[in-house]
Amino acid sequence: MENPNRFWIRLTVVFVGIIAVVVLGRMAMLPESWGKYGYYRGDSIEEEAQRAMKYGTNESCKGCHSEVSELKSHSAHQRLSCEMCHAPVSEHAKGSNKFAVMPTKKGKEQIGLCLSCHQKTIGRPEKFPMIDHARHLAAQKVKPSHTCDQCHTVHAPLENINHVKDQRSLKEALNEN
Ligand code: HEC
Ligand code: HEC
Ligand code: HEC
Ligand code: HEC
Repeated sequence: MENPNRFWIRLTVVFVGIIAVVVLGRMAMLPESWGKYGYYRGDSIEEEAQRAMKYGTNESCKGCHSEVSELKSHSAHQRLSCEMCHAPVSEHAKGSNKFAVMPTKKGKEQIGLCLSCHQKTIGRPEKFPMIDHARHLAAQKVKPSHTCDQCHTVHAPLENINHVKDQRSLKEALNEN
């Protein structure tokens, strides 16, 4: 007669089999450094640290571009990152050598770059200097295709405008006398 417990024995064998496969599989597949520091692969720290540096921060430009860095450091743009408007230093210079041209936005691309921060947009802090592009250029009586750098020095955006204003007021002062 057939053993009435056979069903349970088979079921247990199957379960034990599954557990064994999972345990052995885990042992075989877990990377060696797993759990060294926590619930992750310990070696990944070392690997991340060895990846080549991409962004160098503004400090990385300073040594080779002291004039632009100096100009920018006293300007309305002092807090901006050079690499945000250009490209990472790793695509341009290594050690003391420039090996590739640094991308620089001109024409339409430049207008787009400036407007990405300065176009009047609901939700930006009210105090942030914003312009309505079309109106801004119309107020200056120039075509909409005028690029921002035709009036603003990109690294110190109010520098020459303030200069012109100073000269105007000087002229007025002289004319009054
Ligand atoms: C707001 C965006 C912006 C930031 C921030 C910025 N640049 Fe520029 N940069 C430009 C644009 C746009 C041009 C092209 C301007 C032109 O041709 O009139 C340019 C041109 C240049 C040039 C070539 C022309 C020149 O003036 O000598 C250099 C070099 C340069 N940038 C370096 C830097 C460095 C270094 C920093 C950081 C200290 C920096 N830039 C930060 C937008 C920026
Ligand atoms: C090892 C030196 C070195 C470093 C570091 C360096 N540059 Fe330059 N860069 C140069 C040289 C050399 C030129 C070509 C001559 C010039 O315009 O002064 C140049 C030119 C440029 C130009 C004009 C376009 C071109 O490639 O000719 C821009 C824009 C520029 N650099 C931006 C930057 C920014 C932004 C940084 C920092 C993220 C930076 N550079 C870091 C050496 C360097
Ligand atoms: C990443 C964002 C960003 C980009 C891109 C940018 N700016 Fe600015 N700009 C700023 C910030 C931040 C200030 C300082 C605002 C402040 O003082 O509250 C500023 C200030 C200015 C000011 C002075 C406004 C004032 O009344 O004080 C002018 C003008 C200006 N930018 C023009 C430009 C031009 C032209 C470009 C393109 C070449 C440009 N900006 C690109 C963020 C940006
Ligand atoms: C034809 C010259 C001219 C051009 C082109 C121009 N601007 Fe201006 N911009 C000015 C002048 C002049 C002022 C100062 C206005 C004032 O003080 O009344 C100014 C002021 C600003 C301000 C400060 C506004 C504020 O309320 O504080 C920002 C931001 C600005 N411009 C961004 C830009 C951007 C971005 C571009 C390119 C899309 C651009 N400008 C193109 C002449 C120009």
